[in-house]
Amino acid sequence: MQTLKDRIAIITGASAGIGEALTRDLANQGARLVINARREAKLQEIASDYPKDQISVFAGDAGDPALSVRLLDHARATFGKEADLVVVNAGRGLWGSLTDSDTEEWEDMIRTNILGACHLMRETANRMVTQMPDPDKDADAFAAHWQKTIEVGGPCRDIVVLGSTVGRHISPFSSMYGSTKFAVNSLAEALRRQMAKYGVRVTLIEPGIVRTEFQESAGYEMEGFGAFMDSVGPVLRGEDISRSILFTISQPPAVHVNDVMIRPTRQEYP
Ligand SMILES: NC(=O)c1ccc[n+]([C@@H]2O[C@H](COP(=O)([O-])OP(=O)(O)OC[C@H]3O[C@@H](n4cnc5c(N)ncnc54)[C@H](OP(=O)(O)O)[C@@H]3O)[C@@H](O)[C@H]2O)c1
Repeated sequence: MQTLKDRIAIITGASAGIGEALTRDLANQGARLVINARREAKLQEIASDYPKDQISVFAGDAGDPALSVRLLDHARATFGKEADLVVVNAGRGLWGSLTDSDTEEWEDMIRTNILGACHLMRETANRMVTQMPDPDKDADAFAAHWQKTIEVGGPCRDIVVLGSTVGRHISPFSSMYGSTKFAVNSLAEALRRQMAKYGVRVTLIEPGIVRTEFQESAGYEMEGFGAFMDSVGPVLRGEDISRSILFTISQPPAVHVNDVMIRPTRQEYP
């Protein structure tokens, strides 16, 4: 396994749930982080549990098209080099189907889950490929760079994207949310195919039910959904997803676990 010490990470949606669990796991392994979400006070609270120069807080709306550049610039300015691990995690759910979900929420969800994710994936990918010789322009230089990366075990470059099981298996009961994750799942795989020749790993994580703030902020009717969670439970925790992400990013540079689908053992569907 590769060490995660001194990796420079950016995590969006780090104030709760999966993002918070991953922030804590990475910090405990010695990574340096820029963490983002809208609630600055919650981010500061998390950062205050770690040495002062290990976690830098950068609050903002992940749906803002300008945020990705500012986040990446902030990581470079804070830690003196470009981020080598970017976790595109900020996102929200929405209770209901195409016919009965709240149309007033559609735009915000699409903006956060798809457009915000796209801007960050795009900016990160474009920066990461400038960190190495271009394999199309100078194959020999790239081969030497890649050989050295393998020999010394790094630097690894990872873009980790939070999709969902409902981005692969249609659930008519959360179809508007699911459609945003279908988009994210396919964009992550498309970017993986584009980035593979550079040795940049684009990894899709597809969780089933994870008990976080997600259910409340999506407006789930908790009595009914709680009973469903009980029937397939215990459901996952943020820590379970974080552990899977750590597994993927700790692989040697020439090994890529492309896609991880992770459900509570007793969840059949979606
Ligand atoms: N929980 C599940 O069952 C489940 C299953 C599959 C996939 N996922 C995906 O996993 C990711 C994380 O979800 P979670 O379960 O950890 O949910 P969560 O507990 O609700 O956390 C969501 C995080 O995203 C942040 N966020 C939401 N909108 C944002 C915005 N516009 N700008 C910046 N940050 C924003 C929230 O912080 P602020 O409110 O402070 O901004 C929070 O830190 C999401 O992409 C979600 O779709 C979750």
